[in-house]
Amino acid sequence: MQLQWYPGHMTKAKRQMQEDIKLIDVVIELLDARIPMSSRNPDIDELGRNKSRLILMNKSDLSDERKNREWAEYFREKGYFTVALDARKKTGMKGVTEVVMEACREKIERDRKRGIKNRPVRAMVVGIPNVGKSTFINSYAGKACTKTGNRPGVTKGKQWIRLNRNIELLDTPGILWPRFEDQKVAQNLALTGAVRDEILQVNELALLLIQFLLEEYPGVLAQRYETEEEAVSAAELLGRIAEKRGCISKGNELDYDRAAALLLDDFRGGRLGRISLERPEEKD
Ligand code: G4P
Repeated sequence: MQLQWYPGHMTKAKRQMQEDIKLIDVVIELLDARIPMSSRNPDIDELGRNKSRLILMNKSDLSDERKNREWAEYFREKGYFTVALDARKKTGMKGVTEVVMEACREKIERDRKRGIKNRPVRAMVVGIPNVGKSTFINSYAGKACTKTGNRPGVTKGKQWIRLNRNIELLDTPGILWPRFEDQKVAQNLALTGAVRDEILQVNELALLLIQFLLEEYPGVLAQRYETEEEAVSAAELLGRIAEKRGCISKGNELDYDRAAALLLDDFRGGRLGRISLERPEEKD
């Protein structure tokens, strides 16, 4: 799914979230591990207050392992439970239930004191478009789950997935919008492919990525495209990628647009290695 948000969408999504959130105990928030801050919704802390909170750093197969650990630490210090995840390959999935239960310990304890036993914890998955919500729900719920129908006292039309004795998951994820009015956030979302590429932007994005990689991940481009990367500008390097990959236009000129698209595709597909675009210090 691509990000296409209008004020009307956002108001509607927020209203829906405010309704759904009343029904649940724990918010399972998915972030893109490559851009944990840029893929967060600005209002989620407000929306999810008084709820147990769990952050899943998804697509962690594509992000830098060292940065994953730094982010996990960062969120843990802020009081969130965190799991690094690859929803597609189901890596990290096993730990999720345990952490959901851990996040809800106080609620379970409260229930117990009131004499309520074995009431399942109700969870809801939230996140911005394309972060992997559907993939996660499918992987997590798997085939073994049973869908429960509408239950008396529960809002009509809501489907719950009974995961096991302890957890029920709201079938439809909550879609949130990112802070995309912030230019850096918009860039990060575009680089990771959450926002549709505009032809004119591809070049600009590729140059931003090259600049970032030269500074933060030296050697990555040189290795992938078998070229020197020292003492060259981002534009020159894009030219070299075009040369190396045979991106030549009809007039026998280097096709920068094609090279840019190819580079972005390699990055998004993890073919440049595991790379994170954000690190925790930037936001403190
Ligand atoms: P959404 O519901 O939040 O909008 O996201 P969705 O699950 O549709 O996932 C968006 C894209 O991200 C999908 O790729 C999905 O396969 C991919 N994805 C989800 N989780 C992970 C993960 O942990 N690691 C990686 N590498 N990718 C993940 P797509 O290209 O849109 O579809 P497809 O090629 O998988 O069919």
